[in-house]
Amino acid sequence: VVSLKQMTARLMLAVGGAVLGSLQFGYNTGVINAPQKVIEDFYNQTWLYRYEEPITTGTLTTLWSLSVAIFSVGGMVGSFSVGLFVNRFGRRNSMLMSNSLAFLAAVLMGFSKVAYSFEMLVLGRFVVGLYSGLTTGFVPMYVGEVSPTALRGALGTFHQLGIVVGILIAQVFGMDLIMGNESWWPLLLGFTFVPSLLQCIILPFAPESPRFLLINRNEENKAKSVLKKLRGTTDVSSDLQEMKEESRQMMREKKVTILPILIAIVLQLSQQLSGINAVFYYSTSIFEKSGVEQPVYATIGSGVVNTAFTVVSLFVVERAGRRTLHLIGLAGMAGCAVLMTIALVLLDQMPWMSYLSIVAIFGFVAFFEIGPGPIPWFIVAELFSQGPRPAAFAVAGLSNWTSNFIVGMGFQYVELLCGPYVFIIFTVLLILFFVFTYFKVPETRGRTFDEISSGFRQGGASQSDKTPDEFHSLGADSQV
Ligand code: GLC
Repeated sequence: VVSLKQMTARLMLAVGGAVLGSLQFGYNTGVINAPQKVIEDFYNQTWLYRYEEPITTGTLTTLWSLSVAIFSVGGMVGSFSVGLFVNRFGRRNSMLMSNSLAFLAAVLMGFSKVAYSFEMLVLGRFVVGLYSGLTTGFVPMYVGEVSPTALRGALGTFHQLGIVVGILIAQVFGMDLIMGNESWWPLLLGFTFVPSLLQCIILPFAPESPRFLLINRNEENKAKSVLKKLRGTTDVSSDLQEMKEESRQMMREKKVTILPILIAIVLQLSQQLSGINAVFYYSTSIFEKSGVEQPVYATIGSGVVNTAFTVVSLFVVERAGRRTLHLIGLAGMAGCAVLMTIALVLLDQMPWMSYLSIVAIFGFVAFFEIGPGPIPWFIVAELFSQGPRPAAFAVAGLSNWTSNFIVGMGFQYVELLCGPYVFIIFTVLLILFFVFTYFKVPETRGRTFDEISSGFRQGGASQSDKTPDEFHSLGADSQV
């Protein structure tokens, strides 16, 4: 099915330029983990300098949690605002404009130390959160709209690849012998400037989404010339035909059925409530508690596994299908969460259990990237046609960031309550998401946007029952 001929230079430029934004999101997700101690020292010194007394432990903890979590608050606001931009300015220009937020955040965070101001750091985290929230709507939407049908999943996975590479870079740069030390941490946080600068250089050469030009702007000639460049052929009539059909449907159709939006929301919840960010925010302390001797290296190891398996997913997603990979990922994660629990419970009797916990965490991350990492992001573009797509991204993005916030804020408290059994909560949730995916999520591989949404229309309210045979004609044969 996958034709590499369709991978034109212009398409690569468009996707590559866009996912620099995803890299930013990943970088800022991972960057705050390693330098916690040195930044806390800075908070303490600033406090001392201003108020002539040391900061209390309670205030310091609050200030630190705020610095970490306000990023997701920014993400909630940003992701919910995508609709304000994408139809007014276009997809590409929205991405370009949002970089002003990243530059502002880089300045706020990068100069917070010389200004003796932790307020600037907290504000900077909020602003870069806003940027990241916008990104999680803009990028998958744009990539989905420029990709040919047969490559939509593989290219959609590049968004996640950008994120995981960003996390990995942040983990490596954050080591104390690189930038995670007293002198260089402002540069570590300010580094977010660099991908934005690159994006501002590359994106002007990338085309606007042809779907936006044709369906939203009614500029058929422009859409046609963009399509020719993206597809590398002069005959783009079938693409045009398909978009016009999508546009006709959009005029006719007034109400959106509830099922696609429910699917989009639950898939976002399955991504975040799987517990993945318990690992990416707190892995170092999780490894410490499981008796691992070099927790920092184990954390970087999890970043490497994370990246490697995103690449695996990228190569298999057009063959195995979205639904199958999501199911395999959820089931595998549930299994690894059980292993992790066993390792934590038996650690006192058997010290070698620390090795089992490394295996369990690496497996957890690997299965995450097979499906639950990349798929929820790009499937939103697939489940909706041009009209409701921005609104769907807003709702899906808000669900994602809200549950991200809940895990980020809540994990350490729940861990205090449940001790070594904390991962059982994720096991239960993972099983529930598996059941939902099995019964409700259609296969979207190889189908045009219009075919996917007419699948939902034909079914009407009760179509969920028919989902399996209606949609699986393409996917079921490829169970791996
Ligand atoms: C996904 C999640 C993000 C997580 C990352 C880990 O992109 O949205 O929250 O940190 O995967 O790879």
